[in-house]
Amino acid sequence: MLQAQVFLWAYILLFFPASIVAQGLGVNWGVIASHPLDPKIVVNMLKDNGIKKVKLFHAEHDILTALSGTDIEVMVGIPNHSLESLSEKYSVAQAWVKANITAYMGKKGVNFKYVAVGNEPFLAAYNGTYNDLTLPAMKNILKALNEAGVGKDIKVSTPLNGDVYITPTYKPSDGIFRHDLADIMNGICEFLHKNNAAFIVNIYPFLNLYQNPGFPEPYAFFDNDDSNSMDDHGVKYCSV
Ligand SMILES: *[C@@H]1O[C@H](CO)[C@@H](O)[C@H](O)[C@H]1NC(C)=O
Ligand SMILES: *[C@@H]1O[C@H](CO)[C@@H](O)[C@H](O)[C@H]1NC(C)=O
Ligand SMILES: *[C@@H]1O[C@H](CO)[C@@H](O)[C@H](O)[C@H]1NC(C)=O
Repeated sequence: MLQAQVFLWAYILLFFPASIVAQGLGVNWGVIASHPLDPKIVVNMLKDNGIKKVKLFHAEHDILTALSGTDIEVMVGIPNHSLESLSEKYSVAQAWVKANITAYMGKKGVNFKYVAVGNEPFLAAYNGTYNDLTLPAMKNILKALNEAGVGKDIKVSTPLNGDVYITPTYKPSDGIFRHDLADIMNGICEFLHKNNAAFIVNIYPFLNLYQNPGFPEPYAFFDNDDSNSMDDHGVKYCSV
């Protein structure tokens, strides 16, 4: 993932007084850094700033240990390169869940809420490498969570990149899934719906802002500034 993103989030985090942090705000906690902080310090920073949700890109032992016994909600990621073995062999999914989820549960355990299977696996730049692996891997992980008795509390999803979606007109209501992904996305949506799990899409409004001259600045933030809002069949959009 983008290191820049991690730093940006950390930056925002430092400047939000705890009192105005929204309930729904969470942070991505990446570890590709030149000077990684001690996980215990990071956990204290999260608590001090009222951050109640974090997403990890790997099931890092030291981080999960530091999160144990807190009520911070955790989404834990599985890297793309694991999708092949997870999709092929249920036993690999069982082992993953045992080593990286159930090992941290119980009294004073980690408050897991989601397993994110792969990261933006359908990104066009990956040339379809993970197209047929992602849903089978998600199914195996869910099956293993269910078998371990935690599938009701810990949901399974896959964070997508915004490029799964295209719109010929820029209007949200004209949006469709990319043609090469239509069947796959139908399968993913059915799975998510059936299991009451969230559709997750990573958006990078700050990249849009810096890469596209003329991109309306208010669209990159979430403060409901409607100076550039778009009306789409009676629905008003004020941000990305
Ligand atoms: C996702 O897959 C791509 C292509 O194999 C890889 O470069 C990238 O590091 C992966 N990202 C994660 C978080 O696994
Ligand atoms: C998760 O579990 C597997 C066992 O299946 C193990 O090989 C792996 O190192 C564990 N940790 C991470 C970060 O995936
Ligand atoms: C995708 O294809 C392009 C062009 O053939 C190649 O340069 C790139 O390395 C490929 N990426 C992956 C993740 O296979």
